[in-house]
Amino acid sequence: MAIKKVMVIGAGQMGSGIAQVCAQAGFDVLLHDMKEAALDKGISTIEKLLTRAVEKDRISEADKTSTLDRLTKSTNLEDAKSCDLVIEAVVENMDVKTKVFQQLDEITPKHAILASNTSSLPITEIAAVTNRPDQVIGMHFMNPVPVMKLVEIIRGLQTSDATYQAIEKMTNDLNKTPVEVNDFPGFVSNRILMPMINEAIYTVYEGVASPEDVDTVMKLGMNHPMGPLTLADFIGLDTCLYIMEVLYEGFGDSKYRPCPLLRKYVKAGWLGKKTGRGFYQY
Ligand code: CAA
Ligand code: NAD
Repeated sequence: MAIKKVMVIGAGQMGSGIAQVCAQAGFDVLLHDMKEAALDKGISTIEKLLTRAVEKDRISEADKTSTLDRLTKSTNLEDAKSCDLVIEAVVENMDVKTKVFQQLDEITPKHAILASNTSSLPITEIAAVTNRPDQVIGMHFMNPVPVMKLVEIIRGLQTSDATYQAIEKMTNDLNKTPVEVNDFPGFVSNRILMPMINEAIYTVYEGVASPEDVDTVMKLGMNHPMGPLTLADFIGLDTCLYIMEVLYEGFGDSKYRPCPLLRKYVKAGWLGKKTGRGFYQY
């Protein structure tokens, strides 16, 4: 069954980017969020990025118009009944995600594949709340989605080869590079990235250096495009904390304990760039 129509759930920074690349690749896309304001913000971000791409001569005005024509807003999850693939990108919380997957299992056609953009939560556990665990898979895009080439594809315990192959093809159709990964906490990307970010936060917490200096060391010393604290603010400190908690609980190893300063900032509502304050002010 070919994938033609896609629903993306969650119009935040990841969901809007995923909807954009799917629409640019020619898929019909429903962008769903429970908040109308989030949908409006998501669509307006996509419009701005497409306008910039036209200005930079990367796409034509006609490409921009046809991409926007393929994008439809949705505030009703029932709209998923016409979709071949759903990509979930809501908050990194197992209870919220499993509720969404239970509903999707009821609403979507039998052939539909249900994918999660989770950064770290077990795909096997998400799949287990559905009656089609063989058609549940992780499709982990990187931020910012329109720029980053990687999609980590995570096979849950029961994910079928047919599901994997369909998502691998879709990833190639999106002009991204797939990497196959088994279902373990943090997969590959965040098992390696997030402890580095957490360690950078400890370095500030212990007074070794300021956030600016930690970032300068990693940018100029290791050639990272962004320092780890700028990157943490960009990802969202809430998402970073959720991922560290999944690693800590999943491996039961104290090396993954989240830094108390990260917890404190999240409790204060300092979630990074999206709320205007994190390690830096925006
Ligand atoms: N959305 C879309 N496009 C963006 C963007 C955004 N948020 N930010 C920048 N871009 C585009 C710009 O438009 C620009 O393209 P053009 O020149 O063609 O217009 C291009 O990216 C380069 O941007 P800039 O010159 O402004 O800045 P830069 O050279 O510093 O690049 C960056 C920006 C690509 C974000 C770069 O800083 C970078 O690679 N940072 C690290 C990103 C990273 O590590 N991402 C992974 C996060 S972890 C993750 O996603 C997994 C998880 O589960 C948490
Ligand atoms: P975000 O906070 O920017 O957006 C989440 C959106 O989901 C919000 O608009 C919210 O209104 C919506 N939402 C929440 N619950 C919902 C529900 N039940 N139904 C419909 N919409 C709902 O978050 P984000 O940074 O885009 O992250 C989304 C997912 O992508 C998370 O699982 C995260 O771990 C993962 N992820 C994030 C990054 C990153 O760098 N931020 C990278 C890769 C993957």
